[in-house]
Amino acid sequence: MFNKSEIRKLLITNDTAYEKLRERAIKIKKKNYGNQIFVRGIIEFSNYCRRDCLYCGIRKSQKINRYRLSEFEIIECAKNIYKSGVRTIVLQSGEDLYYSRKIIVNIISKIKKDMDCAITLAIGERDIDDYKAFFDAGADRFLIKHETSNEKVYEKLHPGDTLKNRLKNYENLKKIGYQVGLGNIVGLPFTEIDDYINDIFLMKKLDCDMAGIGPFIPAKDTPLSNYPTPNLDLVLKILTLSRIILRDVNIPATTALYTLGGLSGLLMAIDGGCNVIMPNFTPTEYRENYKIYDRKKPLILDKIEKIINQKGYNLSYTKGDRNYVH
Ligand code: 5AD
Repeated sequence: MFNKSEIRKLLITNDTAYEKLRERAIKIKKKNYGNQIFVRGIIEFSNYCRRDCLYCGIRKSQKINRYRLSEFEIIECAKNIYKSGVRTIVLQSGEDLYYSRKIIVNIISKIKKDMDCAITLAIGERDIDDYKAFFDAGADRFLIKHETSNEKVYEKLHPGDTLKNRLKNYENLKKIGYQVGLGNIVGLPFTEIDDYINDIFLMKKLDCDMAGIGPFIPAKDTPLSNYPTPNLDLVLKILTLSRIILRDVNIPATTALYTLGGLSGLLMAIDGGCNVIMPNFTPTEYRENYKIYDRKKPLILDKIEKIINQKGYNLSYTKGDRNYVH
């Protein structure tokens, strides 16, 4: 396996080395998933947020139109995902405590009663008893990205929070029994190559089940609106390396990557480290307001499926749990 200085060299130098890397990553992927790409349907059910993360377009201080989907609307949306054949439903929102423990338990129970699917929550930091109740109601997975492994930068960009606390939440979720996702933002202002290497090793050490790694895209009217996006090649290399090091962990080609690199960027990621895509099922009238960064484009299932098939991959309409093949 690589050490940090070898990885650093790979990340900053030439692309023949990357080709070799990509071949290795594809081999590992083939062994774990054949030519299957897992698919998750995502519902962004609220853009209210109590946090003020400096990079985020739905941070508390943003003057934007806020919306909340009702319980009924969320279930209808879940039914649409289920009808399309997708068997993982991702419920994502800002940190919005309007949705009490009881409301979220209700939503999860109702979905699980009628639909044989996996539920992933991406709703941020909550009380540990909330996490337990959601798991007992049937939630299977939880995304709680660490955003950056650089403690100082973490504190600078997340007022009132620390990396340590974030990882405490991660540990709690793992203990409860969720499959849990970490992940970082490549190109986040004030971070550099060594931080991204540390990100991968942190995810390895903590044995995360999912790794949501995407590029920084500036969001207007945020304190970081004038910072640049990273180079697409760097992001692709990091995804490829992550596959080689993290082996059987589910790694999505994210919407942020799609925004940065378009369809071709997304396909390069799928023909490299990534084995998951997450098309958007948020009702169209709300989508416009879930702008965590500028130029965010929704991934549409039908469109993606055709293109993925042309590349020789198939979408897998299974729950797509982590399958622990090494
Ligand atoms: N660029 C890229 N990713 C972002 N996120 C939030 N804001 C941005 C941005 N400007 C990501 C964070 C968060 C997820 C929901 O969106 O990683 O966890």
